[in-house]
Amino acid sequence: MLTLLKLLKDGRFHSGQALGAALGVSRSAVWKQLQQLEAELGLSIHKVRGRGYQLAAPLTLLDPVEIRRMAGACDWPVLVFDSTDSTNAEALRMIEQRQDAPFVVLAERQTAGRGRRGRKWVSPFAENLYYSLVLRIEGGMRQLEGLSLVVGLAVMQALQQIGVPGVGLKWPNDVLVGRKKIAGILLELVGDPADVCHVVLGIGINVNMRMTSEVDQQWTSMRLEAGQAFDRNQLAAELGVMLQKYLERHQVDGFSAIQAEWERNHLWQGRAVSLIAGVNQIDGEVLGIDSQGALRLKVDGVEKVFSGGELSLRLRNDS
Ligand code: ATP
Ligand code: BTN
Repeated sequence: MLTLLKLLKDGRFHSGQALGAALGVSRSAVWKQLQQLEAELGLSIHKVRGRGYQLAAPLTLLDPVEIRRMAGACDWPVLVFDSTDSTNAEALRMIEQRQDAPFVVLAERQTAGRGRRGRKWVSPFAENLYYSLVLRIEGGMRQLEGLSLVVGLAVMQALQQIGVPGVGLKWPNDVLVGRKKIAGILLELVGDPADVCHVVLGIGINVNMRMTSEVDQQWTSMRLEAGQAFDRNQLAAELGVMLQKYLERHQVDGFSAIQAEWERNHLWQGRAVSLIAGVNQIDGEVLGIDSQGALRLKVDGVEKVFSGGELSLRLRNDS
């Protein structure tokens, strides 16, 4: 089915006969595959008598060679899947099979994209970026401190660099435009964090998505914010460059070297918030983060520090 899509991706007309010949199947088999493309991938295909079939809009698919070419000095191997359950899950399986890190796993779509706390990440075909970078970490905890915040900053910088206005951060690792989520980050770790471990930096960026009924919170995409479509290969390359830059700074100088820059980009600095931890709620005012990336809140006039993957921040109504 995807071979057929690759023949159509130029957005031009292709006759049923030519498509059948290229695939070595009958015209009716081509017709069936076209219907499958529409049903499974949500693509729209025009059929015009005498001319053939045409994708409603040309499609640029992910291309590892293009990404490597545009990423310059960032030479991480890039693997692209047409479809996978989750690029993070795929990366974890590759670690188990002893694939050398660093490497990047991308997919055109995820059938079980995962968000934090077992939530689902909506991942339609060829519209967004689903990106997992695997790093091998030696020498323990210091290199893990604030890591997800560093990734958030790199994602934000990549989006700004490529021309998306108004992007900022929300502790611990959401990337927002205003109140709308444009990207999410999920770190997964295997091995011994105090010794040698592998960490998967999973990043989902809404690139060209314009519609979905599946996301149950406020969201946006690069295209909706900038009013133009973006090349996902260029974004993947830019993201690689930014991740490499920020991860290197983090590795050499530690999170404290990045703390001030992160705070400058925190959209909720000084705001009245509620911190949700399971059934518990703590109300306070955001003071910032500490040198390890933990959240500093003023609660009843006293500074308190919070960290941990299960925490969620919400703006208070009176904020
Ligand atoms: P937090 O709990 O930190 O406040 P959050 O409400 O964004 O953040 P997360 O667990 O970080 O929750 O993210 C998962 C949520 O993201 C899902 O519950 C869903 O509402 C939303 N989501 C899923 N897919 C997308 C997408 N492609 N774009 C934006 N949001 C999405
Ligand atoms: C969140 O905000 O809850 C985190 C979302 C993380 C989504 C990305 S998409 C690439 C990688 N693979 C996954 O299954 N999840 C992450």
